[in-house]
Amino acid sequence: AHVVLLRSQLLSWYDREQRELPWRTLAVTEPDLNIRTYAVLVSEIMLQQTQVATVIDYYNRWMKRWPTVEALAAATLEEVNQMWAGLGYYSRGKRLHEGAQKVVTELKGQMPRTVDSLLKQLPGVGRYTAAAVGSIALGQVTGAVDGNVIRVLCRLRAIGADSTSPAVTEALWGLANTLVDPERPGDFNQAMMELGARVCTPKGPLCSQCPVQSHCHSYRKVKTNTSADHSLP
Ligand code: ADE
Repeated sequence: AHVVLLRSQLLSWYDREQRELPWRTLAVTEPDLNIRTYAVLVSEIMLQQTQVATVIDYYNRWMKRWPTVEALAAATLEEVNQMWAGLGYYSRGKRLHEGAQKVVTELKGQMPRTVDSLLKQLPGVGRYTAAAVGSIALGQVTGAVDGNVIRVLCRLRAIGADSTSPAVTEALWGLANTLVDPERPGDFNQAMMELGARVCTPKGPLCSQCPVQSHCHSYRKVKTNTSADHSLP
C-alpha cells in the first residue's frame, strides 16, 4: 500500500511540475515505435554527460536532420561529428551512428524492442540507458538508476553505505524495480530523475517541496534529530 501511495504522489507531482522537454512530448505524440525508440535513445545518449538545458537544442537539430534511424545510418561520421560539436565525448555520437548502421544492415531497420535487446544489440548502451529507453519509449516495466536516482533512493531508504559498491548498486536497482509504476514506468523513472534534479538536490534539498517526504527515511531521521538544520547526507 505504501508503494502505491508513493507512486501516485510522485506521478501527481510530475504531472504538475515536469519540464516540457522535446523527447517527452514525442513520447506522448509519436505512435511509431521505431521512431519513439530512436528518438528517446538519441536524447538519453546526449543526456549521458551533458545537462538537460544544453541537450534541448542539439536534440532538436539532430532530429530535424536525421528524423529516423535510416536517415542517421545514411549520414557520414564527419556529418555526425559536426552535429555533435560542442557536446563533448564524441565517442557517444560515433556509437549512436554505428548503432544506427547496425540496425539498418543487421536488424532489418527495426530498433530493438526490449531492455535486454537494447543492451545487447546497441553499442554505447549500458544498463541505465537500456532501462531508460525501454521504459520511456516502449513502456517496459523496469526501474532506471542514474546518478540523480541513486541520490534519491539512498535518501529515501537512508542508505549511508558507498553507493558505488556492487552490493549497493544491486540493492538500488532492486529497489527501483519494486518502486516503478507498472502502468507508467517511463513517467515514473523520469519523475525520479526530475525529483533528483530539482528537489532532492545534492546540497540543500528542498524537502518541504518533496512529494514523497512522508516516505523518506532520511527526512524522518533528520527531523527527530535535535540539530537545527535539515541538511541531509
Ligand atoms: N536525464 C537523463 N534522462 C533524462 C530524462 N529523460 N529526463 C530528464 N533528465 C534526464
